[in-house]
Amino acid sequence: MKIFKNKQKTAIITGASDGIGAAFTKLLIKNGWKVIGISRSLKKLKAISKSFSSNQQSFKYFSCDVQDFKKLKSIAIEIETPDLLLLNAGIYSPVNASQINLDIYKKHLNINYLGVLNCYEAFLPGLINNQNGHIIIMSSVSGWIGLPKAAAYGPTKAALRSFAQSIRYDLNPKGIKVQLCSPGFVDTQATSINDFYMPGLMSVNEAANLIFKNMSSNKFEFSFPLSFSIFMKIFSYLPDKVSSYLIRKFIT
Ligand SMILES: NC(=O)c1ccc[n+]([C@@H]2O[C@H](COP(=O)([O-])OP(=O)(O)OC[C@H]3O[C@@H](n4cnc5c(N)ncnc54)[C@H](OP(=O)(O)O)[C@@H]3O)[C@@H](O)[C@H]2O)c1
Repeated sequence: MKIFKNKQKTAIITGASDGIGAAFTKLLIKNGWKVIGISRSLKKLKAISKSFSSNQQSFKYFSCDVQDFKKLKSIAIEIETPDLLLLNAGIYSPVNASQINLDIYKKHLNINYLGVLNCYEAFLPGLINNQNGHIIIMSSVSGWIGLPKAAAYGPTKAALRSFAQSIRYDLNPKGIKVQLCSPGFVDTQATSINDFYMPGLMSVNEAANLIFKNMSSNKFEFSFPLSFSIFMKIFSYLPDKVSSYLIRKFIT
């Protein structure tokens, strides 16, 4: 009797060179996956690759800006269709909305929102063709309710939430699972610039483990850390007078 080994699963992870994306890349490879990492810094991607020592063939990487649709399309032609697409690349800059910030607003929109759409459109045809696959979109609890200093970042995450909610109606019948990941605070270089207390701040490895655990669940949206996300969810349902009072008191 022939014994067939299960095919090695493949993931594309955008923003694989740092933070949550890098930790999740390492976790997937540890669990026998092959990862195709996409982000701008070749230096950081090379360093991640080196960290796999004997397992380097499990990590293929491309230096690419998610704003560059042409390059993303050429990557899609070069690689095999993934089982999982984690659309994670993103930036965060706190802004003072009483100042002129148009360039910062546009940069967030171009990377965090349109960058996800570029990757989605570049890699989707393979998934549709296979009638199989899994897309996880990285949003944030700041997509649930407007927070102080998040006027550039928050709207991009709210837009991603709405996008993910919509696409599942077309993708689920084609065998493609869609999930939305909405973390609270995770300790990365992106959050290291925050000068305020970050309740429930967790490590990238804890975040990666929770993404790994939740990706096999049937939940559409998952969030962590649990206590902070429950707190934020309640905030988002409260009457505006109450929630804005509490946010002023506790988050500014
Ligand atoms: N940390 C948190 O508390 C938190 C909470 C909620 C949601 N999130 C979301 O989680 C995701 C990862 O955040 P993180 O905290 O891990 O941030 P991070 O440590 O700054 O990592 C961001 C990653 O995105 C890549 N990236 C940024 N701009 C890019 C571009 N234009 N093209 C391609 N890659 C790009 C970066 O690589 P290069 O610089 O090499 O391009 C890096 O690999 C983001 O979408 C963020 O909004 C984070």
